[in-house]
Amino acid sequence: MDIVERIIVSEEAIQERVQELAADISRDYAGKTITLLCVLKGGLMFLCDLAKHITQPVEYDFMSVSSYGDATETSGIVRITKDLEESLEGKHVLIVEDIIDTGLTLNYLVKILQSRNPASLRICTLLTKPANRRVEIPIDYVGFEVPNEFLVGYGLDYKQLYRNVPYVFVPSKELLERA
Ligand code: IMP
Ligand code: MG
Repeated sequence: MDIVERIIVSEEAIQERVQELAADISRDYAGKTITLLCVLKGGLMFLCDLAKHITQPVEYDFMSVSSYGDATETSGIVRITKDLEESLEGKHVLIVEDIIDTGLTLNYLVKILQSRNPASLRICTLLTKPANRRVEIPIDYVGFEVPNEFLVGYGLDYKQLYRNVPYVFVPSKELLERA
């Protein structure tokens, strides 16, 4: 089965952009230790590639969140299903996300994380869908702006699958129609 309808961001383009972002981050955080905060599971692939090219000292922490209520509409209220293992107090925290769509999830998460008194809190996302944004959210590092379509690959899943595909694509009808 061909799972790909159209490639939106190729593996080469992702890898090149990841290196540029890592260079920007390394420069901006000169002399500081960075806490890369991965929002599971989508941010994992991006975090691993990004971290390889950051030249400052880096530590990782991980959290999982899920939206409350109706699954088809993002509620904007987030439940932490796996919390961080370390305190954020006094740390330079960089949230690493796969994609920002409506922005509601991250907007809520940022409020929670700010209340834990990090020294700084910034956002790095590989992808953004600006057309679908519901809340204004300041993003410090962006890989690519993408069209308002359902995308899969490089962290993004369809029914928990295809997160491992090294590029971002529009899934084929065949894949979406498969039971
Ligand atoms: P939002 O910004 O609160 O709407 O939610 C962002 C989250 O929705 C992301 O972290 C993804 O997990 C998921 N998401 C948004 N767009 C897509 C997509 O095109 N494919 C797969 N997951 C997506
Ligand atoms: Mg995500």
